[in-house]
Amino acid sequence: MKIVVTGGAGFIGANFVYYELKNHDDEIICYDKLTYAGNLETLKDAEPNKNFKFIRGDISNRAEVYNLFEAEKPDAVINFAAESHVDRSIEDPELFLRTNIIGTSILLDACKKYGIQRYHQVSTDEVYGDLPLDRPDLFFTEKTNLHTSSPYSASKASADLLTQAYCRTYKIPATISRCSNNYGPYHFPEKLIPLMIINALNGKKLPVYGTGENVRDWLYVEDHCAAIDLILREGKIGEIYNVGGHNEKTNLDVVKTILKILGKSEDLIEFVTDRKGHDQRYAIDPTKIETELGWTPKTKFDSGIKLTVDWYLQNKSWWEKIISGEYQNYYAKMYDNR
Ligand code: NAD
Ligand code: TYD
Repeated sequence: MKIVVTGGAGFIGANFVYYELKNHDDEIICYDKLTYAGNLETLKDAEPNKNFKFIRGDISNRAEVYNLFEAEKPDAVINFAAESHVDRSIEDPELFLRTNIIGTSILLDACKKYGIQRYHQVSTDEVYGDLPLDRPDLFFTEKTNLHTSSPYSASKASADLLTQAYCRTYKIPATISRCSNNYGPYHFPEKLIPLMIINALNGKKLPVYGTGENVRDWLYVEDHCAAIDLILREGKIGEIYNVGGHNEKTNLDVVKTILKILGKSEDLIEFVTDRKGHDQRYAIDPTKIETELGWTPKTKFDSGIKLTVDWYLQNKSWWEKIISGEYQNYYAKMYDNR
């Protein structure tokens, strides 16, 4: 099989590239625009593999996408490419609409024009909105209504709807996965876990939004990759699969766990102004993918977070390069005087 992995130079996409190269003998083409979140350094261990190729391109550029399909004639497309950070979407929604919505529609048009055996849309549990903190009995199922909060989640929900529309109207053989928060190696340090690890290592304050009581359902990135791989090979066309492993934690618990692993003081925690429209709780019910496809997550939060902290300790040069560049302007804009 020839698989195009869009956004494969980002966090989850790159982990997926490595997962595929390790577990299958398929050809993997990473198609990525290399925005601030894309990093060729992340793919350096894939470069020598004969089954791997990198092509720089933008999913929202129709001519570039059609050239990709004409030249490569892929059997499958897994669309990870997206603007992915909620805080950035609150500052500047437009780019999210262009990449996440228009980009998805152009990929689907290319599938329609050139043919495809499988299009998979990598989506998020954030399309369901949030759950209240005082109802731990509630979970997101595939039947939960879409109810988005941020420009990011609205753009991802739109992409899901387009995927379903192309599947029904043009018979594009599509599947969708909606996963909870991921963590692990190569996670860009604008997101909670890598940001907190790096700040703690650098003796900087750890900016917790609001009271830190918001709950996220954390999944080790490799378990997400395994789920997508399974959906690609055994999932049913037209279906949505929720992916999550019942690892709910408050943000404050996550931050305290990181500090404990690193042997740093909780005095580093600083409560800062809350995110606008901040979702309270995400929690996935993964019954469908567990019972229909036999997926189960392998890594519990306690061991996954240790593996992740260890990866950031062992790979300082990867993140030091990132935080010494444009990231400093981003950090100052988002956190100074917050
Ligand atoms: P990321 O921001 O780390 O990586 C995104 C990648 O997409 C980057 O390599 C970037 O260069 C590329 N990209 C951005 N715009 C592009 C464009 N127009 N054309 C081509 N490439 C482009 O994101 P991530 O955390 O790896 O997330 C990957 C996907 O998974 C996204 O679709 C996201 O919505 C979804 N998701 C993420 C999480 C999470 O916890 N991170 C959870 C569930 C779903
Ligand atoms: P994030 O990693 O941005 O993922 P998402 O918003 O997609 O869930 O944030 C995870 C949680 O951590 C979210 O509740 C916001 C919170 N958060 C902080 O408290 N401080 C921070 O500096 C960041 C980036 C996030």
